[in-house]
Amino acid sequence: MKRVTVLDLKEKKQKKEPIVMITAYDYPSAQMVDEVGVDIILVGDSLGMVVLGYENTLPVTMEDMLRHTAAVVRGAKRTMVVGDMPFMSYQLSPEQALDNAGRFIKEAGAHAVKLEGGEEVLEAIQKITSAGIPVMGHIGLTPQSIHRIGGYRVQGRDEETALKLKRDAKLLEKAGCFSIVLEAVPVELAKEITESLEIPTIGIGAGPYCDGQVLVYHDVLGIFQEFKPKFVKRYANLRASIIDAVKSYVEEVRSREFPDEEHSYL
Ligand code: KIV
Repeated sequence: MKRVTVLDLKEKKQKKEPIVMITAYDYPSAQMVDEVGVDIILVGDSLGMVVLGYENTLPVTMEDMLRHTAAVVRGAKRTMVVGDMPFMSYQLSPEQALDNAGRFIKEAGAHAVKLEGGEEVLEAIQKITSAGIPVMGHIGLTPQSIHRIGGYRVQGRDEETALKLKRDAKLLEKAGCFSIVLEAVPVELAKEITESLEIPTIGIGAGPYCDGQVLVYHDVLGIFQEFKPKFVKRYANLRASIIDAVKSYVEEVRSREFPDEEHSYL
């Protein structure tokens, strides 16, 4: 089975075929999304919130990311797996960024890494890509800068930030990124950025004109319900289904209905 590569993604942009990316954080979820045929699995640092129960993504460590990325890689046979570089794993120096990006590839088996930011992370991106590691950029709402931004809100509504986003996108492309996530950006701005680039954009809350879309697995399935940004579409309500199933199990154990003959060795 042939794995999705950066060349396939570029070709999809040229042919105007939408790219599908979704997050996953463990072996069974990776197997399921791989089976469906998504193009990219992002092992996002969003796992800090939806899997580990932190308030934001800032406490996530390299060890957290490597363990979850390795599990996803074991489950994904044809999908490209992108490991998300956690807060403070690439900001200190280009050398630190390369060292940690290399760990995603060597220790976890990822096929690419993602990191957040524009102009300020260009040297890190250049260093990583010059070692042969594909990098996905991420601009707009960058959750690792949540304290500077002041909240999870749309970015690029005023002229100054819109100009910075357009400039950052071009700089990231020039630095060697193979694609860029645009998060929480107005539709027309995302369209303009997408049309200005040769590399694909992957939108989350950035409207229909991006070259691809990404959503968080636990949002798509309705497992994480602590809050729901406007851009999240739930395709299932698994939280309710899981609660119902576990309730039935609890009731059957308490009433001695389970285990019955069918589930016992006679
Ligand atoms: O961590 C994550 O899941 C992400 C996506 C929302 C793009 O960065």
